[in-house]
This record gives sequence, structure tokens and C-alpha cells, in this order.
Amino acid sequence: MEKKIYIETYGCQMNVVDSEVIFAIMAKEGYSRTESMDEADIILANTCSVRDNAEQRIWGRIELFHKQKEKRPGVIVGIVGCMAERLKDSLTDTGKVDLVAGPDSYRSIPQLVRNITPDTPQINVLLSHEETYADIVPVRTDKNGVSAFISIMRGCNNVCSYCVVPFTRGAERSRDPGTILEEARDVFSKGYKEVTLLGQNVDSYLWKCDARTVTFADLLESVAEISPELRVRFATNHPKDISDDLIEAMARHDNICKHIHLPVQSGSNRLLEKMRRRYTREWYLERVRKIREVLPGCGITTDVIAGFCSETEEDHQDTLSLFREVGFDYAYMFNYSERPGTLAARKYPDDVPLEVKTRRLNEIITLQNELSLRSNQAEIGKTYTVLVEGPSKKNPEELCGRTGSNKMCVFPDKVHKAGEYVDVTVTSCTSATLICRLA
Ligand code: SAH
Ligand code: SF4
Ligand code: F3S
Repeated sequence: MEKKIYIETYGCQMNVVDSEVIFAIMAKEGYSRTESMDEADIILANTCSVRDNAEQRIWGRIELFHKQKEKRPGVIVGIVGCMAERLKDSLTDTGKVDLVAGPDSYRSIPQLVRNITPDTPQINVLLSHEETYADIVPVRTDKNGVSAFISIMRGCNNVCSYCVVPFTRGAERSRDPGTILEEARDVFSKGYKEVTLLGQNVDSYLWKCDARTVTFADLLESVAEISPELRVRFATNHPKDISDDLIEAMARHDNICKHIHLPVQSGSNRLLEKMRRRYTREWYLERVRKIREVLPGCGITTDVIAGFCSETEEDHQDTLSLFREVGFDYAYMFNYSERPGTLAARKYPDDVPLEVKTRRLNEIITLQNELSLRSNQAEIGKTYTVLVEGPSKKNPEELCGRTGSNKMCVFPDKVHKAGEYVDVTVTSCTSATLICRLA
């Protein structure tokens, strides 16, 4: 009988691609992908460690997976990804996990699986300075065949004091641009209309080969030149590294989507310093000014952390005022969660009480909802080309698709299909969605 593998993916988009890489590696071993845990021979969770609640969720999943083992002895349960890297054998010590594989050891999963017995779980959490899975063609798991993620680099060389990613993903390394272009051409030839280039800090992408160096701006332009019909997105940028070259390269190509995700983390210079972000509020605002000057209408989104160590009311007000000043289109907002082993965990007490963190977070969320609404209201009456993703989630009679600036549009339309470009005019909005009609 055919063997089946089931993977639940948590955390960032890089994990989505990594799961696709694991499916590809296991396909060579004769495992096909299943979306039903009940029929899987191997059950994996590809995990995230960025905040404690991300890990708590996985402990719950381990219990659930274990029930499958009780029902069907011989089923293999594995934890892969960032939490595997962080917790190593404390996962197998539970007696409920057979396989632990860190982000750089996925090529070894077939061998690990062969070595598993009921009493000998298998672990590989070696990090690498070279691994980029460049030669592996991911098994795409997106639902509609319109938009594909492409990993262009791995790891992170920054030292943000709160962040566990450098520990779980290791040192930064860039992937051979030739293989990135090949992958983008391949998905385009298969009908995909959008690619998103992924890295923790895409601005520090760098490939050196003989006399040639390829920067992120160079790579982005090469991908954009594959076809004007292929939309190109990317994430994440770092405020300290985003260059004028990149912003200008975006302006040169209509098919590079005008959206920049630029995590700010805090509006207070004192905290930015403590977070080791290596930019100031003024620097950040200057980058935003440059983006707006060169790319009018560019969507700007961010990440922010409420209640980082020693955060005062004044620091918090600095974050709120920065949000007002920039007027972000969207933000991912989090309470600070201390991560063991990070510089912040070792040096700074996690001293903002949970109620205070949550109150501040809620103030940021309330403000951002207003800003998102205002940003969407300013779109009413304008016409945009959107890439149809499929039926709208709320109303199957309507289609949905995004503007280049990454705003979700919904519109009644019985003619077009996923993967087509359609012009729509915005007629009204909520803080999350532009409500449109065909232009
Ligand atoms: N490479 C990206 C972000 C990676 S993690 C960058 O440099 O911005 C995604 C987001 O999770 C971060 O931007 C940050 O806002 C949040 N985050 C990271 N560590 C966190 C922690 N310990 N507590 C709360 N949020 C955290
Ligand atoms: Fe974490 Fe900072 Fe690297 Fe982003 S840049 S992954 S926040 S260490
Ligand atoms: Fe989480 Fe790892 Fe991504 S910690 S955010 S899954 S790099």
C-alpha cells in the first residue's frame, strides 16, 4: 500500500515552504501527501518557537497525535522546525515523539525514519552554513495554484535581543540565484501568477560567484523580468538595511508589487537600542519618507512588540505616535514573550506585568484598526488591477484578490477565474477589506 505523510505547518511562511520541501524529499521515498491525519503513516508538525504561545499549541498537538499512535501502532509522530531545533531531546523524552528534525536536517528525514523503532526515537538538529535546499523542487501545497512562495535565503545574522530565530535557524546564507530564477520560471510555466520571495532579512541577500555579485535588488529585477504577467512580492525587509537601490528597482517594474513589510518593533529609541535593532525612530521614518517619495501608494505594513523589558508608558506612547505618523496599512501586533537563551532573557528582566502588556497591546490594536480603516477609506473611488485568488471566503458568489499594495478586495463576478487579472473599482470598505465592483 502507498505510504502517506501528513504535515501541520505553524509559524511563518518560511515554514510553509519548508513543509513543501519535506513533502518533496519524502515523495522520493514513496510517501504521498495526505490532508487527513487519520490515514497518515507519518504525522509531522512543522513548528514555530517565536513566542511561547506558539510552542504551547504544539504541546497540545503532540497529545492529539499520540492518540493516533494509540489507535494505530506504528504511526510515526515527528516534530520538525524551530521548536525541534530549540527543544531537541526534551521532545523525545515525552515518549510521544519518534522524530525530531531541525530546519537544516530535512534531507536526513528518510534515514531517520528508517532507523526509528518503538524504543529508539531519532533526532537530527544539526545546523548548517550551506544548506538552502536549492536543488529541491517543493511540492506546492497552496490551494489555488496562483501564488507560490520561494525561499531565497535561510537563517539570520541579526542579533535582535528578544528573538529566538537566529538560534533555531542558524546563520544567514543566500541561495544560488540561478536556482531561484529557475524555480520562479517553473511555477510561472505551470500557471502561477505570483511569487513571494522569502527571507528573514531579504535586504541582506547576497550571492558572490567569481567576479559577479547579486544583491536583493538585482535578484528582484531578474525575477520581475521573467514576465510582466508574473507578480513579484517579497518579505521581510529590515529597516536598517532596506536600500534606495531596492526602492528604485521596485519603481522600475510594474509587476513588482508596491508593498513593503517593514517591522518596526517599537517607536522608542531607548527600546530599539535595547532590542538591538540598530536603527532609530528617525531612521525608520526617513526610510518611510523615501518609500513614499519614490513609490506613491506603496502599502507599508509592520510588526510591533508591546511590553518589551523595561518599557515605560512614555516608550509605549512613542510607539503609538510612530504608528500615527506612518499610518500603517496593516500591522502584526504581539505581546513580548521571553524566549530562553536570547540576550534579552539573559540580561533584562521581563518586568512589564501581563495586564500592562495586554492593555498597551490593545491600545495599539485599536489605533491600528482606525489607521487601517482610514487607509482603506482613502481607496474609495479608485480602480486597481487585482489578481483573482478564488471565491471570497465569506460569500462564494463573490471573488477575492489583492491589490499590488496587498489589500484584499472582494467583488461580485461570475466571469473571471483564479489566476486572472481584473480591474476593480473600490465602492466601500471595512478596516480589513475593500469592497469593489468590476471597473
Ligand atoms: N525577520 C523579521 C521577523 C521575524 S519574527 C524581522 O526582523 O522583523 C516575526 C515577528 O515576531 C517579529 O517581527 C517580532 O515582531 C515578533 N517577535 C519576535 N520575537 C518575539 C518575542 N520574543 N516576543 C514577541 N514577539 C516577537
Ligand atoms: Fe529575529 Fe531580528 Fe533576525 Fe528578524 S532580524 S529574525 S527579529 S533576529
Ligand atoms: Fe517561527 Fe521559526 Fe518562522 S521561530 S517565525 S517558524 S523562523
